[in-house]
Amino acid sequence: MSTYTWQQVAQNKKNGWLVIDGIVYDPTLYLNQHPGGPAVLQNSFGKDATRDFNQTGHTSGARQILEKYKIGIVDKGSPQESWQVGGGTPANAQLFAFLIVAIVIVFILLNVFAK
Ligand code: HEM
Repeated sequence: MSTYTWQQVAQNKKNGWLVIDGIVYDPTLYLNQHPGGPAVLQNSFGKDATRDFNQTGHTSGARQILEKYKIGIVDKGSPQESWQVGGGTPANAQLFAFLIVAIVIVFILLNVFAK
């Protein structure tokens, strides 16, 4: 099976490539048959769709369909663009929440010591 870099996956966004669990798929021919509609699938082109795929509660039947569209594996060490990381960025959200809490604590401390 061929190995593709994340850059190659991005370049083949228009050809309908996407990645689930480290495997590269080309479900172009499945687009109009997708029970979830073509738009959600198209939205995952060029990206890591693992989280989206798992979160939408796909059955083992869906996994069997996937098999038909397998074209290769992704080179996990290759650099990945931030937009290719599927399903939002919880790491950033956590950092943001931490910063807010830290700022509030600093303000409280400043108030206490200012008195
Ligand atoms: C090539 C990849 C995919 C295949 C083969 C696939 C296949 C399927 C299948 C067979 C179903 C019917 C339910 C089931 O049997 O599990 C389904 C439903 C659904 N899929 Fe996918 N899917 C793929 C990717 C995605 C992605 C990336 C999303 C993004 C969010 C998505 C969103 C949905 C949704 C929302 C439904 C539910 C539709 C409903 O119940 O009305 N799918 N998909």
